[in-house]
Amino acid sequence: KNIAILASGSGSNAEEIVKYFADSKKGKVALIASNKKDAFVLERAKKLQIPHFTFSKSELESGELVQKLQEAKIDWVILAGFLLKIPSNLIQAFSDRIINIHPALLPKYGGKGMYGMHVHHAVKNAGDQESGITIHLVNEHYDEGKIIFQAAVPVSAEDSPEDIAAKVHKLEYKYFPNVIESLL
Ligand code: GRF
Repeated sequence: KNIAILASGSGSNAEEIVKYFADSKKGKVALIASNKKDAFVLERAKKLQIPHFTFSKSELESGELVQKLQEAKIDWVILAGFLLKIPSNLIQAFSDRIINIHPALLPKYGGKGMYGMHVHHAVKNAGDQESGITIHLVNEHYDEGKIIFQAAVPVSAEDSPEDIAAKVHKLEYKYFPNVIESLL
């Protein structure tokens, strides 16, 4: 199965997924695409020798990106730190084949504004005793698709938002590639 990863930022999850699938029989990362020309994920793609390109918001919304993904014979679309809303043209073309990871225990701390460090500040400010990850299918509504997997990690009052982010990233790297493979 061919996997495409869409990412807007650093791409540490993308790198973990590429490495994991390097010796998987069930799938491979065929391409990495970003909506940000300067996204570090593109540097990682270069180093990992994965075909990569950038696209604009209008190409995402016009269906041009879907066309490129179909031409590349992509079977699954993985969102790993992708910050744009997925338009219905992409959802229709890859129905139940788009997976997102959210760095919190949905339905808590979901929604448009909850990206990057915002989530971890919110968990800290709420005094929550745990945080974690949610891997879910993507539908028309932000962070509301069918939940496939969740894992939690304890959070203490001494933890800074950065400490929480580090704990959550560890969960992401440990589980995301594996959960993707289990769906292929
Ligand atoms: C991750 O925490 C992911 O859960 C969230 O955005 C972050 C992306 O980090 N969606 P990276 O770009 O994979 O390093």
